Amino acid sequence: MKVTYYGHSCFSIEVGGKVLILDPFITPNELAKSIDVNSIKADFVLLSHGHGDHVADAETIARNNDATIVSTYEIATYYSAKNLKYHPMNIGGSWDFGHFKVKCVNAVHSSVFPDGTYAGNPMGFVISVGDKHLYYSGDTALTYDMKLIAEDFALSAALLCMGDNFTMGIQDAVKAAQFVNAKRVVAMHFDTFPYIKIDHAKAAQLFQEKGIELIFPEIGQSIEL
Ligand code: NI
Ligand code: MN
Repeated sequence: MKVTYYGHSCFSIEVGGKVLILDPFITPNELAKSIDVNSIKADFVLLSHGHGDHVADAETIARNNDATIVSTYEIATYYSAKNLKYHPMNIGGSWDFGHFKVKCVNAVHSSVFPDGTYAGNPMGFVISVGDKHLYYSGDTALTYDMKLIAEDFALSAALLCMGDNFTMGIQDAVKAAQFVNAKRVVAMHFDTFPYIKIDHAKAAQLFQEKGIELIFPEIGQSIEL
């Protein structure tokens, strides 16, 4: 799967000719000034929760591309009221979208839209194409539920939040990688704001000590996972 980083927790994933974009937060992100949101192509927009730093550009991208919003029932219906295409899901549920499958997994966090609308429970995703499986944590604390992911999926990689303060920090992210049994980890939700600035060298060291590859993606960089 070709994965491209757009800053913060936003990635696009190319799967079998379709493009998924996860948690778009581009136009408000000072670090992502090089990315033109209107040039982003997407067939599906996956949203882990309703916080502004995960949904800021969801409507723009969905409308530009006539893309389908995939998220919690509450988030999906919020966008259906804006006449966007949607597929409602919830934690524990899976769906086969034809070119790829999505399983919604637990995240320990909170979730509300910037306008105060209730957004349901936050979640993460396991995205599968054939025997390739990627775990996208969304915003979450470390939780033992992550061990269930390792029981069901042999992951090629995990995209893990690790900026601390609002989510797991780097030490918990190392444990999360062990819980989900990922040997390759892509960092996300770091450095965007002062609260979530992290020490890259320390993170690299902690992951290396456990024999796990850690990738700090550059904004605009594509990685084959
Ligand atoms: Ni959040
Ligand atoms: Mn966040």
